[in-house]
Amino acid sequence: MERISFINGQFLPHSKCFVHIEDRGFQFADGIYEVILLKNNKLIDLDWHLDRLYRSLEGFSIKISQDRNYFEKMILELFAKNNLSEGSVYLQITRGVAARWQGFPEESTPTIVATVSPLRTNAVMDGLSVITHEDIRWQRCDIKSVSLIASSIIKQKSLDQGCNDAILIRDGFITEATFANVFIVDKDETLITRNADNFVLCGITKERLVQLAKDNGIKVVERKFDKQELFAASEVFLTSTTLLVRPISKIDGQMIGDGKTGKISQKLLNLYQNFIINS
Ligand code: PDD
Repeated sequence: MERISFINGQFLPHSKCFVHIEDRGFQFADGIYEVILLKNNKLIDLDWHLDRLYRSLEGFSIKISQDRNYFEKMILELFAKNNLSEGSVYLQITRGVAARWQGFPEESTPTIVATVSPLRTNAVMDGLSVITHEDIRWQRCDIKSVSLIASSIIKQKSLDQGCNDAILIRDGFITEATFANVFIVDKDETLITRNADNFVLCGITKERLVQLAKDNGIKVVERKFDKQELFAASEVFLTSTTLLVRPISKIDGQMIGDGKTGKISQKLLNLYQNFIINS
């Protein structure tokens, strides 16, 4: 059966979903997106994802008439049409189609598309090898914009070097990875992750994990940290909707801790998986 996707109010075979050549998402990266996890037919932390979706739209001054219920209903219907009870949905909204001009068009109808993929949420705990790289992205990384080429270039550089990803550094401090947030565990077993600002995406998995950690007696500090602290950490891991909690075993060829999944990382993954199952 061909995948069914969603485009501007319609559920269509994936191969029949097209956007116009003058869609502003295509010409100006004038759009935002979300990736949301479905487990046991439940959308995980949907409210927080929708909060961020509307925040991103506001960041771009893109106005839509669709409310939160519209998205919840549409996404659940899309999974149902694809016979999936778990997976992830990619939802993208652009300003829509307008003759090419740099300023915003006076009127345009936002383009709304969504597509689902099956996803194994069985966590993989093999440690990742990453490089460090200067954060060459723009200054509004808090907006989940589709302008991802800087991240994509860096990701490819890491792959070309036989690694899996890159940890980004701006002004001497770690921001995040190309498509995930970064946590470190220090020698006192304190969990450290960068505080939310315009240089990082406020990850939903990160937010949830911070709460779960605090509720379970793990000390969490949200603040800037630098490369020295990164390399000195006993555990380093990434979080995202699709990675969940994913340990890092090597950075720039240097082993982190003993190179194995650390006990805090494992504990947090277990807590997160329990949270998902009980959502
Ligand atoms: N990426 N930081 C960046 C730059 C990201 O692209 C993502 C997610 C995250 C983690 O956010 P969350 O926990 O809400 O998924 C952090 C998604 C999964 C993607 O682009 O596919």
